[in-house]
Amino acid sequence: MCGIVGAISKNRNVLPILITGLKNLEYRGYDSSGVAYLKNNKINIVKTSGKIINLENKLNKSDESNIGIAHTRWATHGKANSINAHPHRVNHITLVHNGIIENYEELKEMLIDNNYSFKSSTDTEVATALLDYYYEKFNDIDKAISEFMKKVIGSYAITMIVDNDLDSLYVLKKESPLVIGISDNANVVASDIRAVLKYTNKYYILDDFEYAKVSSNEVIIKDIKGDILKKELHAINVEDNDISKNEYKHYMLKEIMEQKSTILKTVKPYIEKGIDSLLILPDLTKYKEISIIGCGTAYHAGLVAKYLFEEVTNTRCNVYLASEYRYQNSFLSKDTLTIFISQSGETADTISSLKLVKSKNCPTLGIINVENSTISLLVDKCLYTKAGVEIAVASTKAYTAQVALLSILALSHGLRNKTIKEDDVLKVIEEFNNIEKLITTLLNNKDMYLTIAKKLYKEEDIFYIGRGLDYYLSMEGALKLKEISYIHSESYAAGELKHGTISLIKKNTPVLASATNNKLNAKTISNLKEVMARGASVYLITNTNYKDNTFTIVNIPKSSDFLKALLVIIPYQLIAYYTALLKGTDIDKPKNLAKSVTVE
Ligand code: F6R
Repeated sequence: MCGIVGAISKNRNVLPILITGLKNLEYRGYDSSGVAYLKNNKINIVKTSGKIINLENKLNKSDESNIGIAHTRWATHGKANSINAHPHRVNHITLVHNGIIENYEELKEMLIDNNYSFKSSTDTEVATALLDYYYEKFNDIDKAISEFMKKVIGSYAITMIVDNDLDSLYVLKKESPLVIGISDNANVVASDIRAVLKYTNKYYILDDFEYAKVSSNEVIIKDIKGDILKKELHAINVEDNDISKNEYKHYMLKEIMEQKSTILKTVKPYIEKGIDSLLILPDLTKYKEISIIGCGTAYHAGLVAKYLFEEVTNTRCNVYLASEYRYQNSFLSKDTLTIFISQSGETADTISSLKLVKSKNCPTLGIINVENSTISLLVDKCLYTKAGVEIAVASTKAYTAQVALLSILALSHGLRNKTIKEDDVLKVIEEFNNIEKLITTLLNNKDMYLTIAKKLYKEEDIFYIGRGLDYYLSMEGALKLKEISYIHSESYAAGELKHGTISLIKKNTPVLASATNNKLNAKTISNLKEVMARGASVYLITNTNYKDNTFTIVNIPKSSDFLKALLVIIPYQLIAYYTALLKGTDIDKPKNLAKSVTVE
């Protein structure tokens, strides 16, 4: 969603840092952008709607500055236009903001009573005015920030310039990520360190209710009381965070292809020494049951884990959507381990659910891709997926890394609770060691996916069905297709069709299914025949030898339960990709979507 970059230097022009930083954050989703910098001792603000190129075109090419802040906005309060775009300026304060000020209406009324007026419909302009109000009142920026933090309800990462202190950036944080990168040339603030990796890989992380004064040669971090804090300096590995697209037309295709190595990279530490390394994973036998929480694709990865924990290791496992979990009776107990799955580690609903579980002192585990992200730091224990940076909005390699790690966790649990024999565990380890070959074969089946995509891309409604694990995979298959091709696609449990959905089937309606479970395959195939009898065109992904000229069949290799999800999803991902390619959509940045959903 929104992105922040700020930079300050003694002798360097920071405008290129701001613009490159914004471009690196583009993938997160935005609909307007803006920048503020010091020009002739005054704050100059340039804002536009649309792409960053519009902002660049509006900037005076010869301008240079040693201090500036910049922002990409994903509209929440008010339309995506240049008035609502950040930075906002009220009297002495100019700022950019990520997050949502929940009590902004009440604050706005108070500020209007105190003679403030507003140009935009944003909560951010209210935050700017509130900081100015306290700054005027106390004539002290520390006090103003502290009062602001006490008064505001909601989330914020703020970077601001204060008129009477033009040698510093001020940054404030609550529930929205913000880091301060340090380098000899310039100090840079960003909502994601990877936006400014070209300039530095060393950074401080701000925690909630902390703020900092960042000047060109110093960073002073304080808590809400104004006490100076000593913080750890982190370093991020530049190679692992490579964001180049190489020869690929889209990041999504590059990331789909990378799965031949990211899956193994993720599980390797837990299989390289056979059974012994599996036992490095947390012991889950002390818990009666497992809860899993995530959003979107991460939730779908959780469903695969539910299948393995329940069907293979005989351990009860419930999976919840974070946006629902946070507002329902969660029946929390110390006997339940709650696992939080998130690529970004910054998803607002997942963070809130985590805080709820932690408030009851119940055990938590994270399956997270981004190191030092909010969730990874809050959970009791974090296991990292090794997918590398995922740029395309539609998640692919992060999903398979999550599924692989959860599968290995279930395998180690099955070994410990003796629901899986040691010999069978060794066979699964062997399969994972060979996964690169299996995935490569599937990735190379481009002609098949393209043939199917040609049949799908002009359709308006597509159905995905399956039973058991295959039902969970159909959910992820349908999500991939709808988010990047904008074709309405829905997933249904195959056995549910007759209870309503089958009325939607008409001549040529595409129905896609996977069938990888010997106990259920015949039933799914019957359901496919039923829709065919009503005119549907049918596509089947299967690891059986099933032959039927009236179906389009995608064959995948046979495997244990632990690899099935990984093998079924590759065809689904590539069918979605080629369908969107034929439709000509913006595959890496689909409309209305954001990579990291930092508001609820
Ligand atoms: C879909 C997709 C989203 C994310 C969801 C959670 O392709 O990427 O559904 O999975 O927004 O994001 P994270 O995993 O960052 O918590």
